[in-house]
Amino acid sequence: MPGSEVIGKEEQEAVNEVFEKGGVLSRYGNDARRQNIFRVAKFEEEFAKKLNAKYAYAVSSGSGALKTVLEAFEVGPGNEVITQSHTFIATVEAIIETRATPVITDINKTLNMDPDDFESKITSRTRAVIPVHMSGVSAEIDRIVKIAKEHDLFVLEDCAQSPGGGYKGKKLGTFGDAGIFSFDFGKMITTGEGGMIVTNDEEIFKKCRSFQNHGHDFNPNVPSMAYDTAQRGGFNFKMMELQGAVGLAQLKKMDTVIEGHRKNKKKIIEGIKNIEGIELRTVPDPTGDIGDSVTFFLENEEVTNKFMEKWTSKGFGVKNLPDSLKWHFAGMWPQLFGKRYGGKSLDKEVWKKSNDIIRRAIAIPVFMKMDDDQINKIVSSVDEIVKELSTMKVEA
Ligand SMILES: Cc1ncc(COP(=O)(O)O)c(C=O)c1O
Repeated sequence: MPGSEVIGKEEQEAVNEVFEKGGVLSRYGNDARRQNIFRVAKFEEEFAKKLNAKYAYAVSSGSGALKTVLEAFEVGPGNEVITQSHTFIATVEAIIETRATPVITDINKTLNMDPDDFESKITSRTRAVIPVHMSGVSAEIDRIVKIAKEHDLFVLEDCAQSPGGGYKGKKLGTFGDAGIFSFDFGKMITTGEGGMIVTNDEEIFKKCRSFQNHGHDFNPNVPSMAYDTAQRGGFNFKMMELQGAVGLAQLKKMDTVIEGHRKNKKKIIEGIKNIEGIELRTVPDPTGDIGDSVTFFLENEEVTNKFMEKWTSKGFGVKNLPDSLKWHFAGMWPQLFGKRYGGKSLDKEVWKKSNDIIRRAIAIPVFMKMDDDQINKIVSSVDEIVKELSTMKVEA
């Protein structure tokens, strides 16, 4: 996945330059001392350009971005917000933060939202839907947006794991009313921690900009921030200038990293696609996949666990599935969905379809800097382990 794979001298020079040119570490203020250089603002401008979006606004994390957009949608108590069972826990935490009720759909073999289940869960209280494009692969976003618009719902695309990804020629994050991105250390672009909101809607943009800085209107008619007006409350989710500097350097590398992923992913897929006993994840548009993982399903949970044992004993890693399922699957969050906050365990009948799919999934990380030897070893090891497991089955 990560931008951290290519972090280096460009990012370091960008940070040094912040100190050389005034040392202003915040994104706002001190105009003369910072020689009128505003790196977070420039990062927003470049990010919006890259996505072909009208507006981008940077914040301190992807989680903060989710909360900020939900506030801009005026989601609150009494509302329901629909999202999917396979996501990072932050998506649901953000809904809970607004005091709305999270409603969780099943996933399908895209490992993203099942559009039919989404439609069946809409009620008169539903205000928004958050489809998540997990591990760089798009949800069936055109169908989801169509259903949402038929029911007058806001759409927030959670693109935390898919910066630079696309669907049918259009960038993820620009299909709905807003999209959010994460720049934590495991993501495509990293600023250590950080997030971005994109939207084509001026009202949503203004509300987000206001919320992330305590409700400031950024009113051009008052002489300074000190006298700024405010229409509503907010909080502090501001991005630091140092993050803006690093983000700009990382953004320049993004296309090359994605290209590298795609090239290596293609080779791995070619090598494993015909192995009997594995089924590849459904990718709605492979041309938009950021390519940072290869995911496949095995026969059942038991075989998957055995595969994992053998795979890790050979020194290979996986990416979230199944090692970090605990943080990426709603069926494992009794603290949120059991007796609310009471920690009652959830049984496997809850999100049954999702359970059946996700507990059979193995995600192999793909890096830009992989050579053919590494790729061949991955392919032959998958083949070897799957064959070993099927022999064991016959013997049993
Ligand atoms: C799908 C998803 N949504 C939201 C987030 C939250 O982003 P952050 O860690 O920047 O708060 C993450 C982070 O891993 C994520 O994977």
